Amino acid sequence: MIAKQKGMIDIYGDYAKNWQYVEDAIRSVFEKYNYDYIRTPILEATELFHRGVGDSTDIVTKETYDFIDRGDRNVTLRPEGTAGVVRAYIENKMYGDASQPKKLYYMGTMYRYERPQSGRLREFSQYGCEVIGTNDPAIDAEVISIPVNLFKLIGLKNVKVKINSLGDDETRKKYHDALKNYLEPYMNDLCEDCKNRFEKNPLRILDCKVDGEKDVIKSAPKIIDYLSDEAEERFNNVKMYLDAMAIDYEVDPNIVRGLDYYNHTVFEVVVDIKEMGNAAVLAGGGRYNKLVGELDGPEESAIGFAGGLDRLLLALQEADVKLNIKDELDAFIMYVSDSEKEYAVSLNQVLRLNGFRCDMEYMSRNLKGQFKQADRLKARFLIILNDEDIKEGNIKIKDNLTKEEKVVTEAELIDFLDMNM
Ligand code: HAM
Repeated sequence: MIAKQKGMIDIYGDYAKNWQYVEDAIRSVFEKYNYDYIRTPILEATELFHRGVGDSTDIVTKETYDFIDRGDRNVTLRPEGTAGVVRAYIENKMYGDASQPKKLYYMGTMYRYERPQSGRLREFSQYGCEVIGTNDPAIDAEVISIPVNLFKLIGLKNVKVKINSLGDDETRKKYHDALKNYLEPYMNDLCEDCKNRFEKNPLRILDCKVDGEKDVIKSAPKIIDYLSDEAEERFNNVKMYLDAMAIDYEVDPNIVRGLDYYNHTVFEVVVDIKEMGNAAVLAGGGRYNKLVGELDGPEESAIGFAGGLDRLLLALQEADVKLNIKDELDAFIMYVSDSEKEYAVSLNQVLRLNGFRCDMEYMSRNLKGQFKQADRLKARFLIILNDEDIKEGNIKIKDNLTKEEKVVTEAELIDFLDMNM
């Protein structure tokens, strides 16, 4: 038997039903917020992620699925959605559209070569959005509110929003100097990666998977204490708009995020479920006002977030949230003889074209077995065919709840189902 790849899962059965339900809920929330759907390729030029996500991030240095295609191109399976959406925005000149900002949402498979564990996969699915073309702090609050509202609507409790500001260039410069001064005496105690990060991007030391939990890192200076006046005012405005939306949040100076493109607002939405451990971060995002320019586009400000669909499903399961999944059949068609079967095939076609969800017997079960199958499929009505009725243009229909039976014509059957479903 050939097994699936490590860190990848098959989605089927009840899990697949939950999956689709959650995807529909996500789509509906994004549409209420007036975001347009965008779908970009899973495979992109490797360079996009080196420049987009950042050369000093774990995602790019250790976790991408990179390979050379048959045309000798360096390509990468996307580890996240933002870089691809920004590339599409630039390549398709969306900045030229009259309607701005561009509010785009997406859902899709991402790949990271991580150590697989509960809630952390190598092939996983993200949903997210990017708003490109405005630096309005009210949009930061809007983007933060999307996962919060989604989780509320879907039935999750114990959801917390943590926000921080990474400030602007002036902030970053002041902070880098302070952080380097602080870390220098401890450099021998830190891992090789952190030694390299020290010159390249000291901020990355703070979310190192090896050193991140050490006291020396935890006590390091916090960027929020170095905000420039402008960055601080901006952050205050974001908080004001969050208050206006009655979104609860906590300022957490430890949130730096593992991707290089962020500045100003960064945030994470976490769920307080003990069993979730490391997988409790259901969504994260932030502002990235330089990335569009860095990817050779116009200097447009942007913000977005992404959430893990697999993690959201895990959280729903751990929190015992029952989803209102409708998987009942409208009708199940039963028969015995070959001629009844032929009519069953034609009736099934007619009913489906009229918008009903129906199925029929395909396993040559006897009638008793067909009744059981109809129950398994949660059929609301049973259509029980027999040759005599068919000859007279009649069909017997039984309500599987009330057990009432009646005989109707084909036209009456459609009206009857219309009225009852
Ligand atoms: P990220 O924090 O790397 O951000 O990922 C966002 C979410 O994807 C995480 O909070 C988590 O729920 C889920 N996730 C990440 N890695 C895995 C994994 N290996 N298995 C399962 N779920 C995972 C980004 O990707 C940014 N692009 C977000 C963003 C959009 N920032 C601005 N715009």
